[in-house]
Amino acid sequence: MIAITGATGQLGRQVIDTLLKSVAAKDIVAAVRSPEKAADLAARGLQVRQADYAQPATLSGAFAGVEKLLLISSSEVGQREAQHQAVIDAARRAGVKLIAYTSLLHADRSPLGLGVEHRATEAALQASGIPFVILRNGWYSENYAASIAPAIAHGVFAGAAGEGRIASAARQDYAEAAAAVLVKEDQAGKIYELAGDSAYTLTEFAAQIAASSGKSVSYQNLSEADFTALLKGAGLPDGLAAMLADSDVGASQQGLFDDSHTLSTLIGRPTTPWQQTVEATIKHS
Ligand SMILES: NC(=O)c1ccc[n+]([C@@H]2O[C@H](COP(=O)([O-])OP(=O)(O)OC[C@H]3O[C@@H](n4cnc5c(N)ncnc54)[C@H](OP(=O)(O)O)[C@@H]3O)[C@@H](O)[C@H]2O)c1
Repeated sequence: MIAITGATGQLGRQVIDTLLKSVAAKDIVAAVRSPEKAADLAARGLQVRQADYAQPATLSGAFAGVEKLLLISSSEVGQREAQHQAVIDAARRAGVKLIAYTSLLHADRSPLGLGVEHRATEAALQASGIPFVILRNGWYSENYAASIAPAIAHGVFAGAAGEGRIASAARQDYAEAAAAVLVKEDQAGKIYELAGDSAYTLTEFAAQIAASSGKSVSYQNLSEADFTALLKGAGLPDGLAAMLADSDVGASQQGLFDDSHTLSTLIGRPTTPWQQTVEATIKHS
């Protein structure tokens, strides 16, 4: 049996859709914070079990009979070290044989602040004694989707990534990689550095928005402080604004770049071109 945590999230749902092509629904456990959000998964024949990272009591029964577990990193940045530790502890008690974890590209040396919790979780996996495989995910191309319409409206795409090259891929690409690792044999001990086949600077990203929209859009590079202030001014919560600005600065240090093509090799096809994600975002806005 294979369990997916965060199964009602965007990545979790895409992993499940991919897994269902080769695994029977009854052999998949959707481990979710809120079972009421997973009625559709239950209707498709999956076992839905509550697994709230922040409530360890809910985790005890969630992984019974599970052989392989995909731990999708929590979206609650700042709480993740303890939350992931609770999942790992519950998995050990349940006798899980393999944990796959969605980490961050080059987590061991990433300049991004987000790397701290991922490094801690990788260390917790190492200490757990449970065999594990790490999916070090790069940026989703969709991360910029919400900034595209404002960029078209104002003619400016702002960031703090300088000339850093970003090798993003579509969320679906990462989902297929996770599903592949869950169905393949002999994955214990592997660390995958996952990123898109092609990379771009944010200057090139802005130029693509302009080309796809037919409007004039250029990139404006800001200091970390100014970009944080701009994001807060746009209504983002303080912590999220700081995290996004810090991530851009990490990108300026090539923290989101990789040219190993590990992701396309794992999924057996080229990664989704980032330009295609920009086009689709504009088309559907
Ligand atoms: N590589 C990247 O560019 C990138 C970008 C964004 C996020 N991420 C990371 O990758 C993860 C998956 O991405 P995504 O796009 O699927 O994000 P998402 O759509 O926001 O999904 C996050 C999932 O985490 C679950 N979750 C949050 N807190 C939880 C808790 N206390 N207990 C159990 N589950 C909890 C959410 O449950 P609910 O459905 O109940 O809300 C949701 O299912 C994110 O959580 C984040 O760690 C990576």
